Amino acid sequence: MIPKHVAIIMDGNGRWAKDKGLPREYGHQNGVNSVKSIVEEAYKSGIQYLTLYAFSIENWDRPSDEINILMSLLVSTLRDEFDEIFDNDIKLNAIGEIKSLPKELVSELDFIINKTRKNTKMTLTLALSYGGKQEIFNAIKIISNKVKNNLIELNNFDDSIINSHLYTKNLPDVDLLIRTSGEMRISNFLIWQSAYSEFYSTSVLWPDFDEVEIKKALSSYSNRHRRYGTI
Ligand code: IPE
Ligand code: IPE
Ligand code: MG
Repeated sequence: MIPKHVAIIMDGNGRWAKDKGLPREYGHQNGVNSVKSIVEEAYKSGIQYLTLYAFSIENWDRPSDEINILMSLLVSTLRDEFDEIFDNDIKLNAIGEIKSLPKELVSELDFIINKTRKNTKMTLTLALSYGGKQEIFNAIKIISNKVKNNLIELNNFDDSIINSHLYTKNLPDVDLLIRTSGEMRISNFLIWQSAYSEFYSTSVLWPDFDEVEIKKALSSYSNRHRRYGTI
């Protein structure tokens, strides 16, 4: 079975560069090639939703030089890949505190999101300035206000009310959550949406994660037995 929604914590760019005696930015640059090949492999495999953790809210605590490099890489990659995204019927989406990103990046995102809004083959979501706790906190704030103003009745309160107030309101829950670089943590990524996702961790560093590696993850997923607490 092919998972409907695959989410990836793309980790290990810095270590990849360090292993080669190069500055961390080389890791990020090479990480872009992995993004391209994984997006291509995902739509070829028939994955409908691919969500990539590209910049966490905690990543703002990195040195400003590194943040600037990551932001410019995002802008140039989106610019270079627009035709490819559009021609392959991919719909671009972004989740996170988008307003806190540099203006240039926000306008590039707005442009592509708008141009690709009618595309249907695959939804590619970039998590940028994203934090799962912050996302839930925002949702609670909006919902509380609605309850106060009698727009939501507490008696009708269920999962779907929370879902519809998250950044991911148009996405299904995560089926397969992949993390590269061997770390075994979720790092504040899609904590609500991956409550029952299958986890796949590989020691491969993100710049080395290619078609072969994602096929391994998909094959591992196809052998999982998702019980959801039943027997
Ligand atoms: C992932 O690689 C990219 C981002 C978090 C933006 P890292 O930069 O975290 O690389 P490591 O984990 O330090 O090797
Ligand atoms: C998670 O990786 C964030 C992204 C991949 C964008 P980090 O490298 O920032 O996370 P920690 O520090 O290992 O938890
Ligand atoms: Mg890391």
